[in-house]
Amino acid sequence: MLRTDTGQTVKLSDYRETDFVFESVALTIRLFEGRAEIVSELTLHRRPNTAPDAPLVLDGDELRLISIEMNGETLASDRFDATPDQLTVRDCPASGSFTLTIGTEIVPEDNTKLMGLYRSNGVWCTQCEAEGFRRITYFYDRPDVLIPYRVRIEADRQAAPVLLSNGNPADTGELEGGRHYAVWNDPFNKPAYLFAMVAGDLELLSDSFTTSGGRNVSLGIYTEKGRSSQAVYAMDALKRSMAWDERRFGREYDLDVFNIVAISDFNMGAMENKGLNVFNHKYVLLDPDTATDQDYAGVETVIAHEYFHNWTGNRITCRDWFQLCLKEGLTVYRDQEFSADERERTVQRIGSVRRLKSLQFPEDQGPLQHPVRPKEYREINNFYTATVYDKGAELVRMIATLLGEEGFRAGMDLYFDRHDGEAATIEAFLTCFEDATGTDLSRFALWYHQAGTPTLTVEERYEEASDRYTVTLSQSLEQGAAGTGTEPMLMPVRLGLVGPNGEDRDVSPSHGAELLDGVVHLSEANETLVFENVGGKPYLSVLRDFSAPVTLKHEQSEADRIALARLDPNPFNRWRILNDLLGETLAAASAKPASENTTPLSAGVVDAIVSSAGDDALDPAFRAQILALPGEAEVARLIGRNVDPDAVFETLNAARQQIADTGSEVFARLVAGAPADEAFSPDAESAGRRALANGALGYLCLADRSPQRAAERFARASNMTDRQAALTILAFRFPDAKETEDAFAAFYDRHQRDDLVLDKWFAIQAAAPGASRLEKVNTLLSHPRFTLRNPNRARSLIGSFAGLNPVAFHRADGAGYAWVADRLAELDAINPQISARLATAFRAWRTLEPTRCEAAEMTLRKLAAMPQLSTDLKDIVDRTLA
Ligand code: PHE
Ligand code: ZN
Repeated sequence: MLRTDTGQTVKLSDYRETDFVFESVALTIRLFEGRAEIVSELTLHRRPNTAPDAPLVLDGDELRLISIEMNGETLASDRFDATPDQLTVRDCPASGSFTLTIGTEIVPEDNTKLMGLYRSNGVWCTQCEAEGFRRITYFYDRPDVLIPYRVRIEADRQAAPVLLSNGNPADTGELEGGRHYAVWNDPFNKPAYLFAMVAGDLELLSDSFTTSGGRNVSLGIYTEKGRSSQAVYAMDALKRSMAWDERRFGREYDLDVFNIVAISDFNMGAMENKGLNVFNHKYVLLDPDTATDQDYAGVETVIAHEYFHNWTGNRITCRDWFQLCLKEGLTVYRDQEFSADERERTVQRIGSVRRLKSLQFPEDQGPLQHPVRPKEYREINNFYTATVYDKGAELVRMIATLLGEEGFRAGMDLYFDRHDGEAATIEAFLTCFEDATGTDLSRFALWYHQAGTPTLTVEERYEEASDRYTVTLSQSLEQGAAGTGTEPMLMPVRLGLVGPNGEDRDVSPSHGAELLDGVVHLSEANETLVFENVGGKPYLSVLRDFSAPVTLKHEQSEADRIALARLDPNPFNRWRILNDLLGETLAAASAKPASENTTPLSAGVVDAIVSSAGDDALDPAFRAQILALPGEAEVARLIGRNVDPDAVFETLNAARQQIADTGSEVFARLVAGAPADEAFSPDAESAGRRALANGALGYLCLADRSPQRAAERFARASNMTDRQAALTILAFRFPDAKETEDAFAAFYDRHQRDDLVLDKWFAIQAAAPGASRLEKVNTLLSHPRFTLRNPNRARSLIGSFAGLNPVAFHRADGAGYAWVADRLAELDAINPQISARLATAFRAWRTLEPTRCEAAEMTLRKLAAMPQLSTDLKDIVDRTLA
């Protein structure tokens, strides 16, 4: 394998403009079995302030140069140097435009990294973000080089009747030898990472959308043959996304066509290439028999996310990769808002906060910590992280909370106005909000630069004699692995004083900090709010809607918290307060010896959970969230040090058993009332009812101490949501039961033809608890349908074992670590992006008890010492150990 990436550190402070200015490019891509020829005709000129003898230096990666011409004449060999990863051209004209025509040849069939031009199931497709375009042709492969593209694709008509690229279709025609061509024209300036091309024998689902300005847009979703009917929901989500972006942000679509292609081998979720989004088929293809409600929600979100990138990412892109959160954090915020509007806001917010705490908090509190806007990286692929995406979204959300809906919209409008067609920075983005609203955001900007989760400490005091109530908010930030600053930041803290009947007291602080529309704009290390004549001691409901991504320290009595879980007018906080109480209780209980730990939860907490679950006045989806306890990894994070994953597992089991035994009647009623045979509709309300019934079923089986009901439910399930839920109960609560084995066999028989469902089959088996699970998972490696080459399949077995099976992965004998490390090494030779991503499962190693900690460290050190490691994996392993 050619090693073209050097693994050197790239620094934000080293940013400088290119020496030459690209004006436009015309690409010709000729596809053949076993090879592809690319001819790139660049028009460019020397930047006026560049030294007249400075050479043109272009990026490559595993490339082979075939030909090179300047202004139509072959370049003499002493005028250029071409290595696989760089092309240097000397003596370019000192001024004026010239053309450079570069021919390269590549082998898409050998491209197992799935970056650049590769083949998936026979389909030719591309993935260029972040630095994949340089694997197709020599180029300024950086996001601040924005030009129009004209693309001509040629291929065998039989092998590839469909030829797609960015922009609008311009021409098609026949060629000799059964070949044909298509020309696409993208009039919008774009960087190379947004280039895409697809060629193959695909099926089309077509539709159309008329924008508010009257543009008629042809919509297409291309799938494997026979699967276009599974794209109907994705198409619907696309049209709703287009309408929503007009309504909510005034953003219209700008081309005549918008195409999506579903691909089965894809490193990430999906990619926002201009006018031609390429998707992991997992985020396009659905039907009730093969996809769960969660899958439907995932498709909706990802379709929306990629569509929204057309404005936040494409029309306005990033100056350099340090600004990645400029497009990703903002676009995640937009897709979260879309889902909140389309579904149910509180439940969506709970989902986002769970995700943030389970993915981003551990990252921000461990060795892979980095600021939302990093200052350096060794491998940009490793920065598509929960911090950039999810914390990035939280920062945008905080701006919206601080400025209010109107102020936020004014800032966004200014941003679109001012920077359309540009490659922008975080500073430019923040300035728009400052200019539009006259707000000083300098204390807020620190959120982008200071890594780590701040702690927000809340203290309250009620003086009965004077009926005075005082709330003190303090923020602090610890220095972590990233070594960035710890200054106080501007953060919105939404709070309310709740009376005994669940009403928000209409009081404002008489002095100290202000409360603006229920929000404190906390910017100092400590601020105090003083309320006079509050009318009796209130319950304090703080950090409503999770208004800032912080760790909350609030010593509030269990009685107050249980009261708020029932009373709080802010529905999100009813969940948050109960969930935090559970997390703290389970973390504390896990530290005790198992014998003292059979009833970790108090009767009051159990009752709060059971009575909320049984309260028909509440939204079923919300009640399902109440029933879902914090996961093992979350409890381990809250423990923070000397973690014993077995103890956490036992504690959680004991807690579930308590809830099950206390609530069995309620759960039986919920299961009996479940919509078992009603026709499947993927809407949020129906999904919520299924989630509640399936949550209740899990507890009911525990109360029964029998897998029977889950096995029955599995057998007569009429959709994948119920089938998978029943299978998961069997696998997680009764991993060794005969019923469980039978269910897995039946599931395989029924769904073996569908790769996406097989991924579920592998994933649930890999995540099922028990130390002996490792041996079973190891056997699955030799299953005929297992392969490391398909990212979804690799993730389904190895990713879910390492990420979702703490008991087996963290086996005290270290066998789980060793097994995963062996897989990472194998995978690394095929696809470094995936091996690096899966390796992040080791990030919490220092928080483990000494035996496991030592075993994990030994495994990591061995991995780090391997000679053939990719830059991607090496970067993760080195930082994890640092
Ligand atoms: N930019 C893609 C997204 O929307 C993610 C991605 C990154 C896809 C890198 C492929 C490669 O979020
Ligand atoms: Zn994105």
